[in-house]
Amino acid sequence: MPHLEISDLITVTDPHSGARLPVHRAEVVEQLNACGNRRAARIVAALPAGPDGVLDPLAVDRTMISVHTELQRLSQELRIGDRLVHLLAPLLAAVRAGAADPGPLRVVDIGCGLGYLLRWLAATGALGPDVELVGADLDAALVGEADRLARAERLACRFVHGNAFDLPEAATVYISTGVLHHFPADALADFFHAQAASPALAFCHYDIAVHRLAPIGAWVFHRARMRHPLGRHDGAASARRAHGDATLLRAATVPGMRPLLYEPRTLANPFCTTLRPVIGVRPHLEAPLRQALGRASRRLVGPEQFAATGRDRLAGAVR
Ligand SMILES: C[S@@+](CC[C@H](N)C(=O)[O-])C[C@H]1O[C@@H](n2cnc3c(N)ncnc32)[C@H](O)[C@@H]1O
Repeated sequence: MPHLEISDLITVTDPHSGARLPVHRAEVVEQLNACGNRRAARIVAALPAGPDGVLDPLAVDRTMISVHTELQRLSQELRIGDRLVHLLAPLLAAVRAGAADPGPLRVVDIGCGLGYLLRWLAATGALGPDVELVGADLDAALVGEADRLARAERLACRFVHGNAFDLPEAATVYISTGVLHHFPADALADFFHAQAASPALAFCHYDIAVHRLAPIGAWVFHRARMRHPLGRHDGAASARRAHGDATLLRAATVPGMRPLLYEPRTLANPFCTTLRPVIGVRPHLEAPLRQALGRASRRLVGPEQFAATGRDRLAGAVR
C-alpha cells in the first residue's frame, strides 16, 4: 500500500507558476480508498467543498496553517535549528575561508512551510550577519504566514512564494527539513541535479531517518502533541515514506557535488536520531568542512565508506 500524505493530495500547485490548481474532493477520497486508507479518506471527506465538488481553498489553507503550526513543536523538540547550525556553521566557515571576497552568503530553505527554521536562525543570529536567509514554498498560504510571522517579529529573513529553483538570486547553500520524503525515490535525482547545476556551493537536507522504530515514534509524537486528525495522519505516514540512507546517497551523487551523509543509520543511536541530513559540497570544500567540523567529521560519511564498511567497522570508527 503506498503511504500517501493527505496534505500532498489536497494542495496542488503548478510547480512553475505556483498557481493553485482545483482539487476535487471525491477524486482524493477515491484515491485514498483505492489504497485501502479509509481513515485518510474520511478525513478528506469531512473537508468543505463547493457545489462543483472542488475543495474550498480557504478551508484547506486554514487547515494547512493550523497543522503546520502544531508541527512547529516537532522542530522545537528536535532542536532542528541547533542541528542545522552544527553543520552549516562549519560549512559556511569553509566557504568564507576559501574565497577572497565571499560577499553575502545566501541560505535558501526549499519548501520552508511556515519558516520556523529560518525564523529561528534569524532570531538567534546563529549563522552570522553576512548570511541572508530566504525561504521559498510553492504553497502560498504557508509562505504567506511565514512572512507575516517574520514581519511581526521584525526578523531579518524573507519568504517568497514560488519554486525555490526559480529565484532570481542564486543560493550559496540550499537547505530543507522534512521535504525529501514528499518526493518519490525516482524524483530525488532531479531535485539534487537542480542544485548541482546551480551556482550553489552546497546543500544540506534533513529528513526522517529510516528505522523500524521510526513509524512508532512518529505515531506516538503526533498522537501526543497534535490535535488535528490530518496532522496526526500525515505525521505517521511521513515516517513510513522516508527514504533510506542508501537511496539518498545514491540520488545525491550528482556531477560537481561530493555527496555525504551525517550520522547515517550505521553510526547513529536510533533512539536519538530522528532526522539526519544528506549533504552535498563542491569537492574543494570537503577538506575545509572536515577541518572545521573537527572530531565530528568522523560522522560524515561518503559513498565509498558507506558502501565498503559494514555496521561494525563504521561504529568502530567513531568510538
Ligand atoms: C512538508 S512541507 C515542508 C515543511 C517545512 N519545511 C517544515 O519543516 O515545517 C513540504 C513543502 O515543500 C514545498 N516544496 C516542494 N518542492 C518545492 C520547491 N521546488 N520550491 C518550493 N517549495 C517546494 C511544498 O509546497 C510543501 O509546502
